[in-house]
Amino acid sequence: MSEPKPPKGLFIKTYGCQANVYDSERMRDVLAPLGYTPVDSAEAADLVVLNTCHIREKATEKVFSELGRLKDMKQLSGGTMRIAVAGCVAQAEGEEIMRRQPAVDMVVGPQSYHRLPEMIARLSRQTGDVLEVDFAAEEKFDALPKSRQVSGPSAFLAVQEGCDKFCTFCVVPYTRGAEFSRSADAIMAEARELASKGVREIVLIGQNVNAWHGASPAIGGGGGAWRPPEWRLGDLIRHVAQVGFERIRYMTSHPRDMSDDLIEAHRDVETLSPFLHLPVQAGSDRILKAMNRQHTAADYLRTIERVRKARPDIAFASDFIVGFPGEGDRDFDDTLALVKAVGFAQAYSFKYSPRPGTPAAGMQLQVEEAVKEERLARLQALINEQSQAFNTATVGRKLPVLFSRVGKHAKQVLGYSPYMQSVHVENGAHLFGRIAEIEIVGASMTSLSGREGTTAMMSEEASA
Ligand code: SAH
Ligand code: SF4
Ligand code: F3S
Repeated sequence: MSEPKPPKGLFIKTYGCQANVYDSERMRDVLAPLGYTPVDSAEAADLVVLNTCHIREKATEKVFSELGRLKDMKQLSGGTMRIAVAGCVAQAEGEEIMRRQPAVDMVVGPQSYHRLPEMIARLSRQTGDVLEVDFAAEEKFDALPKSRQVSGPSAFLAVQEGCDKFCTFCVVPYTRGAEFSRSADAIMAEARELASKGVREIVLIGQNVNAWHGASPAIGGGGGAWRPPEWRLGDLIRHVAQVGFERIRYMTSHPRDMSDDLIEAHRDVETLSPFLHLPVQAGSDRILKAMNRQHTAADYLRTIERVRKARPDIAFASDFIVGFPGEGDRDFDDTLALVKAVGFAQAYSFKYSPRPGTPAAGMQLQVEEAVKEERLARLQALINEQSQAFNTATVGRKLPVLFSRVGKHAKQVLGYSPYMQSVHVENGAHLFGRIAEIEIVGASMTSLSGREGTTAMMSEEASA
């Protein structure tokens, strides 16, 4: 047995999507046996990791400006601070990072961070920096520690990685690699591990989570065990539900992969949240085709109807891109019409950002910045109206809220409703970590305010 290592400060800054949030947690798990303990600021850290996002130009720029600040900090530390760049910018521009910012010691891609301990060892043996950007999702998941440190009542579980859809605007297939589904056995084991640590809500994540599929685990073990047919995400959700979580969610889905089994899970699995984030990107078939989305606006609307039929109270969220090359006023009107037809609880909208190496970046008819700005403002105004209406409709209701964060000031506690509305309660610090029935008393575009459930009689009086 080796000696316990003295504690070293670790600071991980996470950009981008839920996959990066999960990866940052797993990097902490990987580094814990080396004595790395999370600290609150980069200044206090011996190792700083930037877990980066490459999705839009702005996201990438942020990384380089943050690295400039870290370089100064490293100098002040006498050069002892180590800087690692992880995530999607590391994958896409690893060598460029090394060249532009010599203060960086390590560059590690999203499928290689299980090798961090070995990279750190190499770094202390040699001068110069270390780069690891191999693609081997399978190997990574096998190599990660089985034990997970959990913080709070909600946890992400990566079930799927990568993307084979190749939307013409998107870098993800290049930064995360091909679609890979983790085995049902490994996922169920991780789910049980999380449940044993008191996790109440599990969020199954993947870039195309509903493309997940896998051989069902052997029943009864042993080589000759009978295996039922392959599971799809709906089957996985049913089995994860049996582990005993109070809430299950999954993200992010592609409209093409909303199969019947998944929709039926929305009908049958009580703990599955009535919330679906289903990015559509645009409402014009011409633009959807140029984006290589492989669905039309009508396909999307039909899918929405199928899900609504299975779970009538479901809330929808989506992502939109405005100003994709060739998008004209009529195309944009189709996007507004689609938004009106669905009625979203939430939506994220972005100006198209040309990404190096993607087909759309080289397309003719790039849309002017001013036009993108104007469309974005109009789309966001419509979405905001819908979010406000959705939130206002829950005022007066009692909703089960899972409190997973502490608020801006003492005693305020923040959580999520089953529809993924952010809910804050004053003087509710005791609610942290659990689900409580909350009476919704106010609504803004982005959040709800609530108070701890009064008795049924009192709330009936209030609404009388
Ligand atoms: N896998 C998910 C999410 C991908 S990235 C999916 O398929 O939906 C998250 C969002 O970023 C996308 O849904 C899209 O709306 C946006 N996005 C991706 N590339 C972009 C680009 N080049 N410019 C602007 N927005 C982009
Ligand atoms: Fe990107 Fe499209 Fe894949 Fe989503 S489905 S990650 S938008 S390429
Ligand atoms: Fe960004 Fe990579 Fe996620 S580019 S959105 S961090 S998959």
